[in-house]
Amino acid sequence: MQVIAFISGKGGVGKTTLAANVAIALAQEGKRVLLIDLDVQNALRLHLGMDPLDIAGIVREGISPTSMFRSPFGVKFIPFGIALKTELEEFETVLRQHPAWILDRIVALGKHAIDFVVLDTPPGSSVFLRQALFAANLALGVVLADAASFATIPRLFSLVTEYTRARDDFYGLRLLANQVSDQNQLCAQVRAALQTDYGKSMVPIAVRCAVAVSESLAFEQPVLQYDNSCSASQDITRLAQWLIKWSASAGSRVR
Ligand SMILES: Nc1ncnc2c1ncn2[C@@H]1O[C@H](COP(=O)(O)OP(=O)(O)OP(=O)(O)O)[C@@H](O)[C@H]1O
Ligand SMILES: [Mg+2]
Repeated sequence: MQVIAFISGKGGVGKTTLAANVAIALAQEGKRVLLIDLDVQNALRLHLGMDPLDIAGIVREGISPTSMFRSPFGVKFIPFGIALKTELEEFETVLRQHPAWILDRIVALGKHAIDFVVLDTPPGSSVFLRQALFAANLALGVVLADAASFATIPRLFSLVTEYTRARDDFYGLRLLANQVSDQNQLCAQVRAALQTDYGKSMVPIAVRCAVAVSESLAFEQPVLQYDNSCSASQDITRLAQWLIKWSASAGSRVR
């Protein structure tokens, strides 16, 4: 089992979009996938066409076979769920006191045979990011090819270093460029700078900007379902294939 966390220093870079669609792409490649929403925004469910009022989630139900929903797209899904302010405060207190709360529950699922756990996180530093990095084997730091996103990268590396210290089963932070465009000169320049400064840490696939991505969200569908042949869907499928290859070379976690 490999745990992949989608993280970012800056908000609105595409973590949730990519977490949902990469999870679905992994399932389309025959992998057994559990997708977990660690963001109070509850946005992952939009990509899976699920009604938030119907669903419990990690805050009330935790991580267990009974808290998982079977999404129509072949992945199991645990939403963040609806929580009252007091419930949320209590949950955050528990997470602060037990940094391995999520890890322990994911490990306990082992016998239910999951190949990939995909975690979506809120932007920046939070108790949820800390939990995600405590559990992750690989962190994918989503960045836009723009100056604002570029500026957040050093802080992201230091957060990851801080939260993954003394872990021998963490394979590192890889930067994943999203919403790239061949037509935009500034984008090309920032991508070149990313390559120069962080070449070894870059995922070798960038996800192109495609209008179908935002359209699909309006229809509450994953883009892989809405337009399987658009540029972003093609890149997401290649990204899932890259993750499967990475996973085979990284081996299974030993815990
Ligand atoms: N490759 C892409 N092409 C076009 N639009 C994209 C792409 N990826 C993401 N988007 C759009 O960018 C916006 C932000 O995406 P998303 O909500 O996934 O970001 P996020 O990082 O999860 O945000 P937050 O930090 O608030 O959780 C959405 O409108 C989404 O449709
Ligand atoms: Mg999000």
